[in-house]
Amino acid sequence: MRITAINGSPRKDGRISKIVDEIIKGAEENGHECEMIYLVDLNIEDCTGCMSCQEKGACVFRDDIEKIEEAIKRSDLIIWASPTHWANVSGLMLRVFERLFGFLIKEQPKGTPLKRNAKDKKAILVTACSTAGPFNWIYNQSRSCISRMREMCKWSGQEIVGTFVLPGTLTMKDIPEKYLKKAREIGRRIK
Ligand SMILES: Cc1cc2nc3c(=O)[nH]c(=O)nc-3n(C[C@H](O)[C@H](O)[C@H](O)COP(=O)(O)O)c2cc1C
Repeated sequence: MRITAINGSPRKDGRISKIVDEIIKGAEENGHECEMIYLVDLNIEDCTGCMSCQEKGACVFRDDIEKIEEAIKRSDLIIWASPTHWANVSGLMLRVFERLFGFLIKEQPKGTPLKRNAKDKKAILVTACSTAGPFNWIYNQSRSCISRMREMCKWSGQEIVGTFVLPGTLTMKDIPEKYLKKAREIGRRIK
């Protein structure tokens, strides 16, 4: 299986990267072909809201969003990984979601949108947040971030096969082994 991790952390050596590295290690043990795309390395402009993508099937403005579109097309599974920023995905990730609007769905005058390009692909959702458990969930911090990613997956037809949340990063020196193990296990279970 071809797997692409889309990493929306502004920090390439941050918690999200470490967790995704472990998921990839687990997946590679079973022969899956994995790559990581760091959004912070790409040049992706803001969505202008023109809605041309709905007719064209992709954003008319061509920049590094092409790299994400191509990665989605060639992948069987996408790891959407973003730190929780203000109980949402990071700005880097939100910009990508917006720019992928017409690439992923075509809205219909009535009924639900048509699914484009990512239909029936698998997805794993990853976030980390500074709020400690269980408040990360009770206070809608990581939960809200995961919920934003779920929404994008639901309407674009991606099947979520795993979710990973790392809470309490504020007081964390190194990521405890139990979380790294859990991440590797998620990778190993990919079928
Ligand atoms: C701009 C910004 C907003 C944040 N908002 C939240 C938040 O709403 N809830 C929370 O629990 N943590 C929040 N955090 C903390 C990050 O989620 C946390 O530091 C995470 O581990 C960062 O992942 P990284 O190491 O990959 O950058 C925020 C951090 C930043 C920089």
